[in-house]
Amino acid sequence: MRSFAGRDILSLKDFERNEFFRVFEIAEELEPIARNRQNTDLLKEKTLVTAFYQPSTRTRLAHEAAMIRLGGQVTGFSDAKMTRAGDFYQESIKDTVKMLEFYGDVIVMRHFQQGAPHEAAKWASVPIINGGDGWGEHPTQILTDLYTVLREKGTIDGLKWLAVGDMRMRTMHSLGYGLTQFDCPITFVSPEGQRLSEEMKADFKDYGLNFREVEHVEEAIAEADVILVEPVVQPDYTKSRDERTGEVDMTPSNYKITKDLLVNKAKSDAILLHSLPRMDEIPPNVDITRWSRYWQEAFNGVVMRMALLALVMGATE
Ligand code: CP
Repeated sequence: MRSFAGRDILSLKDFERNEFFRVFEIAEELEPIARNRQNTDLLKEKTLVTAFYQPSTRTRLAHEAAMIRLGGQVTGFSDAKMTRAGDFYQESIKDTVKMLEFYGDVIVMRHFQQGAPHEAAKWASVPIINGGDGWGEHPTQILTDLYTVLREKGTIDGLKWLAVGDMRMRTMHSLGYGLTQFDCPITFVSPEGQRLSEEMKADFKDYGLNFREVEHVEEAIAEADVILVEPVVQPDYTKSRDERTGEVDMTPSNYKITKDLLVNKAKSDAILLHSLPRMDEIPPNVDITRWSRYWQEAFNGVVMRMALLALVMGATE
């Protein structure tokens, strides 16, 4: 297995099966620190730099919380408008990371341009973690989701997945690549205009993903062990910020997971994931049903980032 020390985490296309299990193993080892709300000194000599060119609640703060749990320091920006990349100069990714690498030992970057973290990794002498790039990928979120499934179901192999939402979403792309390493058939449900691109489907086929597409959640929910949902009422992820102007559409029933649907159609032991934020695709009355696991997923988001930071910093091999 390749070492994680000093490695960039840019895409799940890069991940081998045994590397997933190594990350999950470290996450399980570190989990008690977060569960007991303790901090440790594993990364006390290290600093995380957050470079967020797009809004985030979970990804940025979970990385920061993870670094603090491991005893490290955090610096960075959550709004590029307050940096030279967001003003008159429009400072390039190269020039920006050539600065940031002196301010810390690992950089987590979210960007509205697909491939921006890859560009950063070309120039930085410290590891780059992709915190979501445009309509590209969101590898740390899907590592979190796979870890959540492992913890909740005791296995990943052999489970049938249903993914509902906008297939342009970076999570969906990382999910497809991630599942190529497991025995997991997946059904995708998405509206016209938000379907998987032909290029992505060809890539998934090339990597051996067992997938199909159907029109309505009702066609696939009965056989699903894991239901992963993203919004179809979405901002444009290729913009640095997409403000809401006026009324937004409601989610059509084809792409909604309601309590009635779960009670009447879903497997009784299926689990429901959503990386959040949500619109109305999962109504709040689903939160207290036995299917919902998105709060566990949120907790695991911190644990997973602890594991990744410890691994890429070489604190654990
Ligand atoms: N799931 C996720 O990426 O959330 P944030 O946009 O809040 O980081």
